[in-house]
Amino acid sequence: MNSTIAQLKSQFQNALVAAFGEDFANTDPLLVPTSNPKFGDFQSNVAMSLAKPLGQAPRAIAEQIVQHLALADMCEPPAIAGPGFINLTLKTSYLEDQLTRMQTDPRLGVEQTKNPQRVIVDFSSPNIAKEMHVGHLRSTIIGDCIARILEFEGHDVLRLNHVGDWGTQFGMLITYLREVAPEALTTADAIDLGDLVAFYKKAKQRFDEDAAFREASRLEVVKLQSGDEESRHAWQLLCDQSRREFQVIYDLLDIHVTERGESFYNPLLSDVVADLEKLGLLQEDQGAKCVFLEGFTNKEGKPLPLIVQKSDGGYNYATTDLAALRYRIQQDHANRIIYVTDAGQANHFAQVFQVARRAGWLPNEVDVVHVPFGLVQGEDGKKLKTRSGETVRLRDLLDEAVDRARADLEARIQEEGRQETPEFINHVAQVVGISAVKYADLSQNRTSNYIFSFDKMLALQGNTAPYMLYAYVRVQGISRKGQIDFEQLGAEARIVLQEDSEFVLARHLLQLDEIVDQVGQDLFPNRLCQYLFELSQKFNQFYDRCPVLQAAEPFRTSRLALCDLTARTLKLGLSLLGIPTLERM
Ligand code: ARG
Repeated sequence: MNSTIAQLKSQFQNALVAAFGEDFANTDPLLVPTSNPKFGDFQSNVAMSLAKPLGQAPRAIAEQIVQHLALADMCEPPAIAGPGFINLTLKTSYLEDQLTRMQTDPRLGVEQTKNPQRVIVDFSSPNIAKEMHVGHLRSTIIGDCIARILEFEGHDVLRLNHVGDWGTQFGMLITYLREVAPEALTTADAIDLGDLVAFYKKAKQRFDEDAAFREASRLEVVKLQSGDEESRHAWQLLCDQSRREFQVIYDLLDIHVTERGESFYNPLLSDVVADLEKLGLLQEDQGAKCVFLEGFTNKEGKPLPLIVQKSDGGYNYATTDLAALRYRIQQDHANRIIYVTDAGQANHFAQVFQVARRAGWLPNEVDVVHVPFGLVQGEDGKKLKTRSGETVRLRDLLDEAVDRARADLEARIQEEGRQETPEFINHVAQVVGISAVKYADLSQNRTSNYIFSFDKMLALQGNTAPYMLYAYVRVQGISRKGQIDFEQLGAEARIVLQEDSEFVLARHLLQLDEIVDQVGQDLFPNRLCQYLFELSQKFNQFYDRCPVLQAAEPFRTSRLALCDLTARTLKLGLSLLGIPTLERM
């Protein structure tokens, strides 16, 4: 079925043409859901925006539009308010029909896209031999959610993990390991990853202090890049080890992403530089090859360079991203490429996109977007650290979330005098703990920094995963209590709306398609969280005010159907966030 707002928009467009002629065929009707139910369901502000071009008073314009609106099937007669707002109230019969139809639709009114695209979501992307940190956690959670939403809409999504598996860090690390732990370069698992990260830090220190070590590292990179067998083998071992460690995190989060690291593009880097040269975009600056940027200047107002080949001949992060961009457009045929990284990389992407565009590698019809996010902070508002001041290991962080969820659950079980199996407790703790971390991240506007608080994210009240999971459980409780099989309600269940709280819930249920569509466009998952949070609240109000199992027919069946639609909407919405539901908790 076509979304309500889409139908209203097309009716408005027809009315605008009928009233003012073809020139107005593409005028945006400026139609939005009203914030106050007193004004009905939707409001259009188009009359105000047309006052100037038409040279008429907004109220007069509104009157002409209303005369041409053919909305009798959907809405009560439109009302004109204030200077010229057009207010629309959906008819009860329309709401009831839509909801009745929604019951047999597994997609709950969210249509498959008519223009499926090839979309690449570049997310997670930690660096080999370094610890995966909270920034990568945000990228992993947000990227997965974006991918899920676009997949659900029917796009062909390629999830790519652009791991940092190439470059100077390996020269450094291999040189250092050759000195202190040569077995790590020849034998799998000779050292553990914790050591590897510690070795990396020491190697970096040596690199910064010792010129001879720097030179040795540089030669090591050259050896690796030229395909030296021994270097390659050592590199492979180091990558395997990190990769296994990353996989532990992906498994805990139940997130799938295809690895295509920086090394994949290595053979393409020299062409990037050569082609930029041919295009006349390349200049030499202190021995480095670079493209001078438009709109990026230094303190003296001179254009900044984007370096694509360093004076020692090495390539860098930007060169790799240029090669990746070309590959994704030419070989993967991407129509849209989404990069999920911290906001600190905004300039990097803007610069890479600019150079690619100037080189003609980035056609206008391909949409490239950087999806930035803010920092994760501790409760003190500073960078997240452990009590002893160390950087937090993701694994410890996720384990702690699960442990705390387990402790909360065990306390509740005891309080309520319930008997539960260890399997039940483990499963619920796992789902609640991990979901709490995901939801805490997704429910914030991603561009702001967010404060990581176990207490807040695990609270049963508020805009949290436990609250949402609990709302779902509550509905399942109704079906258990009344021994109702929701699936048997089927298409026969006719929705009949009576109480205010039923109307509020009904209208909200019908907005899922709008929300999914919006998140698919502007990539802000917090909108979906907010929608689900409001849904839970509206459901709770309805359930507090309207008897369900005790109600007389036809209300009993209708209300059961509303319960079922709420549960299914929660389940679908949460699944798009990467969160599973529980039948009991
Ligand atoms: N490895 C990078 C980092 O840890 C993120 C890579 C993001 N993707 C990209 N195509 N540059 O910051």
